[in-house]
Amino acid sequence: MPVDLTNAHPLDLAAALDADTKAMLDNLQPNILRAHVREHLSVLFVRFNDAAEGRAFLRYLATTKMKSARKHLEEVRDFAARGRRGTPYVGVGISKAGYRDLGHSVEDMRKFGDKPFRDGMKRRIADVNDPPVEQWEWTYQREIHAVILIGDAEPDTVAALREEIISELPESARVLGEETGRGLRNPAGDGIEHFGYVDGRSQPLFVKDEVDREPKQHWNPAFPLSNVLVPDPFAPDPSRHHGSYLVFRKLEQNVKAFKEVEQELADSLGLAVADRDRAGAMLVGRFKDGTPLTLKPKAGGGPVSNDFTFDADDGSKCPFSGHIRKTNPRDFGREVLMARRGQTYGERTDDPWDDSPPETRPSGEVGLLFMAFNSSLLDQFEFTQRSWANNPDFLNPATGHDPVIGQGARDVKVTFPKVWGKPEMSVPQTQVAQTVTMKGGEYFFAPSLAYLRNM
Ligand code: HEM
Repeated sequence: MPVDLTNAHPLDLAAALDADTKAMLDNLQPNILRAHVREHLSVLFVRFNDAAEGRAFLRYLATTKMKSARKHLEEVRDFAARGRRGTPYVGVGISKAGYRDLGHSVEDMRKFGDKPFRDGMKRRIADVNDPPVEQWEWTYQREIHAVILIGDAEPDTVAALREEIISELPESARVLGEETGRGLRNPAGDGIEHFGYVDGRSQPLFVKDEVDREPKQHWNPAFPLSNVLVPDPFAPDPSRHHGSYLVFRKLEQNVKAFKEVEQELADSLGLAVADRDRAGAMLVGRFKDGTPLTLKPKAGGGPVSNDFTFDADDGSKCPFSGHIRKTNPRDFGREVLMARRGQTYGERTDDPWDDSPPETRPSGEVGLLFMAFNSSLLDQFEFTQRSWANNPDFLNPATGHDPVIGQGARDVKVTFPKVWGKPEMSVPQTQVAQTVTMKGGEYFFAPSLAYLRNM
C-alpha cells in the first residue's frame, strides 16, 4: 500500500511503524521531515561531465555517506534518551540539468510534476522578480548539476567529511563553488539570522514528539507529509520512495541598511525609547527575541511562542506586511508552508542581537543560505515569494511588500500603527528600502536513497 501523504497524523517513532512507512523512511533523506543539526554546514555545487562517473559517485555517496530519515529520527530519540550524539548529515539534490546530463531523457523529465523545477531557477526570474542572472555570483550563473550538503554540530567533522567527499569526486567532475553555513545564536541559545531576530521557530511539523511539545491552543503545527514529499519518479517504487523539491537561494543581508531602516521607522513614528524595538518587529512580525508582535507590544516573557494566529489583529498589532504574516497568514494557506532548512553564512565581529549603532554593522558578505523543502516549488516557494511577499496588495490593498524579502519596485505608500493595538495609523509613507539581495540559486530535487543507491 502506498503511504498516504495526506494523512495529518504525525509520525510516531515510539509506536511500531507499518511496513510501508518504514520503507518510506528507510529510503528518504534526512533533514526533510525534521531539521538535522547543521550548525556547521558545507554546501558544495557540483557539475558532472561524465554520466557514468557521476552516477557512480552519487551511488558511492548514498551507500557510504548518507543515512536515511529513519536513522536520523532514531538518532534524535537516542540523543534525547541517552545524550548520545548522532552522525553527520549528508544530503544530495539534483537539478534538472543534472538529471539530464546523468542520462535521463527529456521525456523522462516530464515525470517531474513541478514546472519551476523543470525550468530551473534561471528561467524563473521574471516570475519572482529576481535580479538578472548576469548579476548573480559566478557559481550560480553556471550550470549546476547537484548540491551536496554536509552538516554537523562540530566544524572538524564537517571539514573532514568535506575533504573525503571531494577526494572521491571523479576527475571528470568539478566543484563549481561552495558555501559555508555557520549557525548564529543569541544569549538565550536560540538560532538567529543576521538582522538579529530568532529564526526557524515556526515550521510545519511531521513527527509526533515535536508536535507534542507544542501547546496547540491556537495554531496546529502538525502537517501532512504532502507539504514536503512527492513520489520520486525515477525510484524503483515511487509509491514507497519519496523525494522533495529543494529551493536554494543565497540571500545577502545588508545589516547596516536594515538597522538604519529600523531607526528611521522608529523616528518617523515618534516611538518612545522603550517602544523603539517595535519598529523592527513590525517589519519581521516578531521581536528580536522571537516574541510574536501580534501577541505582545513588547519583547520578553519566556520561551518563543508559535501558538498564535492573526485572527484578532486588524493590522494594528502586526502589520499585514510583516514578514511572518506575509509568509504564513495562518488563517489559510497551510498547504503553502515549506519546511525551511536554511543556515546563515558570513563572518562578523559584532553581536547581531545587541543595540550597537548601524555604522558598526556589516553591509554585505553576510546573509542567509535560504533552503526549503517543498512538494511544489510553484505552489509553495514561488507562490510565497510572488503572490505574497512581492505583492503590495496581499491581505489588504496597499499594505506593501514584505519588507524583508519582497522584490520589485516598492512604489505604493504604506501606513504603520502608531500605538500597538490602536486604530491610529501613521501618515502614508514610502516603504522601507530593500536590504536583502538574491545572489543566485537553483532548484533541486532531493531524491530517494533507493534511486541514488540504484543509479
Ligand atoms: C535573508 C532573508 C530572510 C530572513 C532574514 C528571514 C527571517 C525570518 C525570521 C526572523 C522569521 C521568524 C522566525 C520563525 O517564525 O521561524 C522567519 C520566518 C519565516 N520565513 Fe523568513 N527570512 C528570510 C527569507 C525567507 C524567504 C526567502 C522565505 C520564503 C519565500 C521565507 C519564509 C518564511 C516563513 C514561511 C517563515 C515562517 C512564518 C510562520 O510560520 O510564522 N523567509 N523568517
